[in-house]
Amino acid sequence: MKLKQSYYLTILLICILSAPVLASEGREGNSRGKGSSILGPVTNSAYLKECGACHFAFQPQLLPRRSWEKIMGTLDNHFGDSATLDEATRTGILDYLVNNSAEKSSSRLSGKLLASIGKSDAPLRITDTGYFKRKHDEVRAAVFKRKSIGTASNCVACHLTAEKGDFDEHKVKIPKI
Ligand code: HEC
Ligand code: HEC
Repeated sequence: MKLKQSYYLTILLICILSAPVLASEGREGNSRGKGSSILGPVTNSAYLKECGACHFAFQPQLLPRRSWEKIMGTLDNHFGDSATLDEATRTGILDYLVNNSAEKSSSRLSGKLLASIGKSDAPLRITDTGYFKRKHDEVRAAVFKRKSIGTASNCVACHLTAEKGDFDEHKVKIPKI
């Protein structure tokens, strides 16, 4: 009888002690669910075709409007390349980017990214933002230079679900070579 009592007492104690842990895990679970690191796929076919030709077609939610305007206004000198487009295609893509920029997104990712940029700064790179740097501070520079990665801009090399717009940290796999 004594033994049985202490058995039940132990079970009860475990339940009481683990309750706060479970509750906090639940909260974390929610914040990681919809609207955390999930942006959704790119939906504009001209953008996918033209801007996805040389690199991963970054989700428009990854930069503010002012950055997209600057990028789309300087395509003749785009990181040392020429990425010029006819005017109708250029304005069509610009509209898509502006209408879906970080400011238009309710995701936590976009909110944090915007908060990491000066109010009037218009970074040309996602990889230059404080948010990106903070999230990747454990990735050594040499890792980004691996053959199958090449550069930090190559999101999809490590984020296996990047094309779905899912940057959840649990779906990251860094290639070994
Ligand atoms: C001719 C090839 C080419 C085309 C076409 C092209 N880009 Fe790029 N883009 C580059 C290169 C090269 C870089 C620099 C990559 C690096 O440093 O690793 C770059 C980088 C970028 C970056 C910064 C990535 C980062 O580091 O955060 C953005 C944003 C970008 N391009 C947007 C666009 C958009 C929008 C279009 C379509 C209008 C486009 N690109 C079309 C070659 C291209
Ligand atoms: C060399 C591989 C690599 C590349 C390339 C890379 N990332 Fe990451 N990314 C990581 C790792 C590792 C983490 C952190 C995972 C962790 O903390 O467990 C991360 C974290 C993130 C997070 C935070 C996710 C979360 O759940 O909090 C975002 C957002 C993100 N990356 C976006 C990008 C974008 C956008 C690009 C391209 C411009 C990119 N990453 C390029 C490896 C990479």
